[in-house]
Amino acid sequence: MSAAASSRIDIVSHNQYNSPGVHRQDLLSDGLSQLKVNLQWFDHALANGVHEPEAVNISTVDAHGLPNSRIVLSKSINELGVSFYTNYNSAKGQELSDTPFAALTYHWRYPNTAEGETQRQVRLRGRVVKAPSVESDEYFRTRSTESKLGAHASKQSTTLAPLSDGDDGRLTLQHRLDDMRNTFAGTPNIPTPDFWGGYILVPFQIEFWSGRLSRLHDRFLYSRSLETLQSLLPNDATTPIESTEALAKECGGVGWTIDRLSP
Ligand SMILES: Cc1cc2nc3c(=O)[nH]c(=O)nc-3n(C[C@H](O)[C@H](O)[C@H](O)COP(=O)(O)O)c2cc1C
Repeated sequence: MSAAASSRIDIVSHNQYNSPGVHRQDLLSDGLSQLKVNLQWFDHALANGVHEPEAVNISTVDAHGLPNSRIVLSKSINELGVSFYTNYNSAKGQELSDTPFAALTYHWRYPNTAEGETQRQVRLRGRVVKAPSVESDEYFRTRSTESKLGAHASKQSTTLAPLSDGDDGRLTLQHRLDDMRNTFAGTPNIPTPDFWGGYILVPFQIEFWSGRLSRLHDRFLYSRSLETLQSLLPNDATTPIESTEALAKECGGVGWTIDRLSP
């Protein structure tokens, strides 16, 4: 990066990417099975110093069709799709209530030789369903007491009004946390807030991207019929699905095509 003029910043890095190649003959016919195999990309990133490789960018659209993106932590990859947890009343929660579609992008980057670096990307586009309440409860139970209280205290994405002069709203949040601490004092199992839980993105497209020399990257795109998938899924992301396994079985019958894309 260089400041070429006082008002301009030029980004001029030209790193060489030389990630391991992806070869058609190694790919499984089922996209989600391939995604599970590619968990080794997570492991490899972790082993090479990437912190929280499960962090993923998620894009939704608002009621006006305007895109909105942020990072969440994906918590599982199963036969149905990729799950993450959030506040159902947040901006993303409201956007998913209106439009139950999302795109996820993982990106991992780390050096692998003196001249190059591994750059990998996995992109998914899909329909979003609300996770079964039992799964949200199961995951919530694994969180620390402080995280549980934090989930209860935060009206995610809403404005925190200052409590007093000199407060920028942080004090309001702290007070809400204190209130929750009092509310749940002596409660051994803090319950899952009814406005908090999981979503599962059920993909109709998954792309595996591996950065190669001279920008001649490998890209393999798995696609399956969104129309057929939609006919099997609930119409919205506001009612929890009953069983991830049962829905996964039905959706598992929707076959995938695989294309190598030009970089
Ligand atoms: C590394 C990282 C991990 C995050 N994990 C989550 C998460 O799992 N769930 C969540 O709701 N927000 C998570 N966030 C915060 C979101 O990026 C975002 O600020 C929040 O969900 C509100 O987004 P919204 O207003 O678009 O709904 C994370 C942020 C970062 C940087």
